Amino acid sequence: MKSTLTQLTAQFDQAIVAAFGPELTGTDPMLEPTTNPKFGDYQANLAMSLAKPLKNNPRAIASQIVEHLDVSALCEPPEIAGPGFINLRLRTDYLEQQLQQMQADPRLGIPPVAQPQRVIVDFSSPNIAKEMHVGHLRSTIIGDSIARVQEFMGHDVLRLNHVGDWGTQFGMLITHLQEACPDALEADSSVDIGDLVAFYKQAKQRFDTDDDFKTRSREAVVALQAGDDTATKAWKVLCTQSRQEFQKIYDRLGITIQERGESFYNPLLADVVKDLDTQGLLVEDQGAKVVFVDGFTNKAGDPLPLIIQKSDGGYNYATTDLAAIRYRTQQDGAQRVLYVVDAGQSNHFALVFQVAAKAGWIPDGVELTHVPFGVVQGEDGKKFKTRSGETVRLKDLLDEAVSRARADLERRIEAEGRQESESFIQTVAETVGIDAVKYADLSQNRTSNYIFSFDKMLALQGNTAPYMLYAYVRVQGISRKGNIDFDHLPDEARIHLEEASEFALARHLLQLDEVLDEVAQDLYPNRLCQYLFELSQKFNQFYDRCSVLQAPEPQRTSRLLLCDLTAQTLKLGLSLLGISVLERM
Ligand code: ARG
Repeated sequence: MKSTLTQLTAQFDQAIVAAFGPELTGTDPMLEPTTNPKFGDYQANLAMSLAKPLKNNPRAIASQIVEHLDVSALCEPPEIAGPGFINLRLRTDYLEQQLQQMQADPRLGIPPVAQPQRVIVDFSSPNIAKEMHVGHLRSTIIGDSIARVQEFMGHDVLRLNHVGDWGTQFGMLITHLQEACPDALEADSSVDIGDLVAFYKQAKQRFDTDDDFKTRSREAVVALQAGDDTATKAWKVLCTQSRQEFQKIYDRLGITIQERGESFYNPLLADVVKDLDTQGLLVEDQGAKVVFVDGFTNKAGDPLPLIIQKSDGGYNYATTDLAAIRYRTQQDGAQRVLYVVDAGQSNHFALVFQVAAKAGWIPDGVELTHVPFGVVQGEDGKKFKTRSGETVRLKDLLDEAVSRARADLERRIEAEGRQESESFIQTVAETVGIDAVKYADLSQNRTSNYIFSFDKMLALQGNTAPYMLYAYVRVQGISRKGNIDFDHLPDEARIHLEEASEFALARHLLQLDEVLDEVAQDLYPNRLCQYLFELSQKFNQFYDRCSVLQAPEPQRTSRLLLCDLTAQTLKLGLSLLGISVLERM
């Protein structure tokens, strides 16, 4: 099914060409949904912007366009308002027929894109042996949703975990492992080195206070880089244990992602340096090899270089990202690479992208985008910490969300005098708890800092996961009670709109395709949350004002179809946020 906006845009294009000639082919009609239903459904604002180039007043231009505009299959006759707005009101039979098609289609009337792209989403990407912190949680949740939307649109998506599994910090980790936990290095041992975060802290503590240890650590880095067996074995032990911890979090959050850590690019780094050098981009600066980039200066106003190879020969985080760009565009055939990484790394990506562009490593038509997000704050507006000032462990955070969801649920069950099994309680609590954490994050504009609050995210009212889950259960309950077979409807079953609240719901339902297009392009999942939240509200208004199950036929079937379509839309929308729904809660 073709989206309304696509159909209207095509008609406008024809009208503009017919009115003003082929030079204006492809002019953006500047169509927007109206803010007030009084003005219809869409408003085209192009007449105002054509006034200058066409040297005519906008109202005259608008009427010339309208004269040639054939939207009669979709709209009532267009109206010109104010300085030259063209207002369009969708015809009722058109709305009804669109809804009907949407209801009958598992993709809700949204076809996959005609030209699928190879899209890489680089997200989550925690660091080995350091904790996976709330920043990585944001990246994981937002990145997963962005990947889901791209997948739904029909793109060929590669989800990559650019794990921090290489770097000088491994010197101290390996040395500490060899000395404190030698058993772990025995052939095929599977010693649990315990809490890796504590392990990291101990190693760091020794590194900072013990000069001999520091020297041994430096030697370990060299050994690791040279492929020494023992160092490599130690490195592997550390990676394996970290990986197991990360995987627990991914399983719990329902995340699939493919690991391709920094170490993967090691063999490709020398060539990055060589190529930059051949191209004359590399400069020696205090012993290091750097590339100077435009528009970046340090505090003193001096040009800022991107360090490619340090004076000791070691490579940098940035070097790896350059190698990754080459690999992803050449080997993976990526056409769009989305880096879901905190806003603190904006400079890093700007520099890396610029160097890659200078070096000619970004093929035409390939888009590299940093998708930044803000930091997570506690309710006091400070950095998110436990009461005792420690970094919050993700496992504890998820556990707490689930146990609070469970307490709420048990209270309700008791108040309502229900009997529920332990397995029901467990499933609902786990789903609500995890959904709440995800939804709270996704419903914020990702670029803002985000205040983490269990109370807010678990509230039954407002733009929260529990509210959305209830809305789904409720709508689903009504269509279930209606007991009609939505997959095999009799021919005479039709959606027929009468009441204002039905129209409002119908129009909103039909905006799903536009919202998804927008999210796929601009990568703001909060737009989808807002859409779904408004959908629930519009549904509630409809349900307050219109009887459904008690309505006479054919109204009853029509309204049940609206309920079913609303439930399907909520379910699909939430699934694209990585949120699972419940049939009962
Ligand atoms: N490991 C990095 C961090 O924790 C994030 C990596 C992001 N991805 C990338 N290609 N640089 O900050």
